[in-house]
Amino acid sequence: MQFICSVTGERYPINIPRHCSNSGYLLDLEFEAKFDLEKIKQRKPNLWRYKEALPIANENAIISFQEGFTPLLEIEFDGHKALIKQEQLFSTGSYKDRGATVLMSLIKELGIENVIQDSSGNAGCSIAAYAAKAGINCRIYLPADTSEAKIAQMLMYGAEIERVPGSREDTAIAALKAADTTFYASHCYNPFFYQGTKTFAYEVVEQLGWKVPDAVVVPAGNGTLLIGCYIGFNDLLKAGIINRLPKIIAVQASNCSPLFQAFQESHGQYKEVSTQPTLAEGISIAAPVRGNQLLRMVKETNGTFYSVSEDEIKNALFYCGKMGYYIEPTSAATIAGLRKYLADQPNELVVSLFSGHGLKSTDKILKLIR
Ligand SMILES: Cc1ncc(COP(=O)(O)O)c(C=O)c1O
Repeated sequence: MQFICSVTGERYPINIPRHCSNSGYLLDLEFEAKFDLEKIKQRKPNLWRYKEALPIANENAIISFQEGFTPLLEIEFDGHKALIKQEQLFSTGSYKDRGATVLMSLIKELGIENVIQDSSGNAGCSIAAYAAKAGINCRIYLPADTSEAKIAQMLMYGAEIERVPGSREDTAIAALKAADTTFYASHCYNPFFYQGTKTFAYEVVEQLGWKVPDAVVVPAGNGTLLIGCYIGFNDLLKAGIINRLPKIIAVQASNCSPLFQAFQESHGQYKEVSTQPTLAEGISIAAPVRGNQLLRMVKETNGTFYSVSEDEIKNALFYCGKMGYYIEPTSAATIAGLRKYLADQPNELVVSLFSGHGLKSTDKILKLIR
């Protein structure tokens, strides 16, 4: 198992901490996932049941809240059925725990004692919770307008908080500077995070009786779940457990949609576009670090991008609430995209998710109600 530079192909050992290649490019991970279906079925219902497919060799280093295997519920939207993973039910209230359990286990294994991270909120909550469990010190850089409930959560886990004025990109720049001296437990740069989010794909396929859906509808901010889906479904394909990939349908807020726009225009490279504030704070990413990878992955699965307006996000939020699902506005953006996709493709087997719990955005939701 090695890190590989995504541009030059240079290889690096995983036991020497780094978040990018010597030339400053993104790292990917070379690792072969293995599956023993009989053993998997007998294990506890959490994501570590796929341990032969996860890159943590030392079981004593695993930092876990027994996370994963979230329910897959059939829910009807506008008369069309879809299957929705209840990812708001993780210990910290979002699917980012999938990535945090694997990344923080690596960090524990390497004996690192201090980490920094930057986040629009939820990845910070996850890293802070797992750092608390591991006894690792953690400082989280956040945009100034992060929801108060997420900040309270990180403080309760004992994290130090650094609120950065300006945009989400300013926060990322502040974190990169701090990464010169402290290990950067980044959900965007560190490929171990995707080794956790990929278990979403494993669980979907297992919960469908080892069958593959036609499409998965996922959010696209930095694309941590999107990349996880791409890796996870490809692992299952390579292992011969499924015989095709599902289409990856990625959703962005119209107010901040660099990838949607690049995909429409050229199916090629993305460039920075002008953005407006959006209710969907978790996907308000004007310059996703792995933008070109995300475009390539969606294209390779014959998928596409949808963008959703602020009214559509608000509408989806209240629509879910009326059905008994309290989700955060970022999560409602994915559901708004799902409703459009189901209207376009009513006969497909479609899986999507509630990505974050409503309790994380009480302040913002109250404003919408009033
Ligand atoms: C609730 C929620 N949903 C979706 C996302 C999108 O994340 P990504 O595109 O990195 O998977 C985030 C990111 O913070 C989030 O908090």
